[in-house]
Order: sequence, then structure tokens, then C-alpha cells
Amino acid sequence: MDTAMRRRRIASLFAALAALRFVMPDTATGAPPGLMPPVFSPQALPYTENALEPYISARTVSFHYGKHHRGYADKLNELVKETEYAALPLEEIVKRTASVKGREAVFNNAAQLWNHDLFWKGMRAGGGGMPGGKLLEMINASFGSFDAFKKEFAGAAVSQFGSGWAWLVEEGGTLRVVKTGNADTPVAHGQNPILVIDVWEHAYYLDYQNRRKDFVAAFLDHLVNWEFAAGRLQQPKARAVTP
Ligand SMILES: [Fe+2]
Repeated sequence: MDTAMRRRRIASLFAALAALRFVMPDTATGAPPGLMPPVFSPQALPYTENALEPYISARTVSFHYGKHHRGYADKLNELVKETEYAALPLEEIVKRTASVKGREAVFNNAAQLWNHDLFWKGMRAGGGGMPGGKLLEMINASFGSFDAFKKEFAGAAVSQFGSGWAWLVEEGGTLRVVKTGNADTPVAHGQNPILVIDVWEHAYYLDYQNRRKDFVAAFLDHLVNWEFAAGRLQQPKARAVTP
């Protein structure tokens, strides 16, 4: 075999290997061939940026949704690029990275992205008031009354030290109020989040400055989307509403 022929055979061998790689699944992400891994982004707001005024201003929503929420998604995309997390659903990334040493940054950004998706969907223009049906029955059974629930939820939101979240969660067929610090989320603790309020300062400081208590009261009295919250209750087969 002369040198030219040897070179042609080597070239065709490399071409065959390159073609084989193209049709094989991406071993880093598990993604099917020819498909890009999903790009994480905030879910669309279910209302316009000024829809929650006067309780949350368009300016706050613009910064909170457009900068903070978007920032968590952008950072997550950087962190999971070409890793085993890139092809996973967001909730699965949160569960798999919770309390895993060395994965704190992935968890923090994935959890913040998930938490904010639920926060925005749990509000609507003309919200607040009381839920009905099964959710009200469960609140009454779990807390004694709707007013007792409101008092406990507001207390958790106001007393959360520093940045964090206050939640209504479903666990073991009953409802509970819990609070979490920073990015921590009930998703990481086997609980089903029904409703959440963001009590990081970026959620309210432009509108309420240091009056977190007033922000929490406005959320409960004027903003909660109880129909969405009710849809989050576990159903016999599948959850009706996903964040
Ligand atoms: Fe936030």
C-alpha cells in the first residue's frame, strides 16, 4: 500500500468515526442525537407586568422577573452545560442536588428558578379572599380555621430571618406552613408546595422598603390565586397544575 492510499484509508476511517459520533447519544447529557439539551428559562408570567398594581408595582415585577428570576435561569444554564443535569427536568435537578456536597450552586439556581415559577403563578389581579372546596376543607382541618392559617402563614413570612420563602405545603394528606432560607425549597424535603411568598428583599423593597409585614398582608388579602393553589393539591392519579 503506497503512502497516498494509506492516507486515504486513514481519512475515510476518521470520517466514519465522525459519522458514528453524530448518530450516537451525547454521553455527557444523554440527549438524543441531533437535539440540543433543553435551555432553562423562567416560565411565562400569567399576567402583564403591571397587573398586580398597586400591591406589586410593574417596576418591581420588571426587576424581579426580568432580572432576578432570569438571572437564576442563565446561571443554571451555565452550570449544567455538558453535565448529567442538562437533560433533566428542573424539579429533578432540585431533588438530585439537594444537600449534595459540591452541587450547591446548581441546587441554589435550580431551586430559585423553580420557586419563582410557583410564586408568580400563585398570584393574580383581583386575588386574595378565601379558597373554596377541598382546599378550604383541608385548611380548616389542618389549621382550625382560615383565619388561623392566615395568621400562621403571615407569621412565618414576617419572621423568616433574612432572605427566604414562606410556604403552604401538603404532606401526608395534611397541610402545613413552613419557611425556608435562601433557595431552600419543600421540593427538596418531600413536601408538595401549594403556595409560596418570596420574602427576599428584592420581592418588595422598591414598593414597601422595610415593611415586609405590609407586603405579606397585601399578598394574602389581594393577590393569592386560590384556584391555582387548589389545583396543586395531589390528585389520586396526577397533580392537576404544575408550576
Ligand atoms: Fe425573588
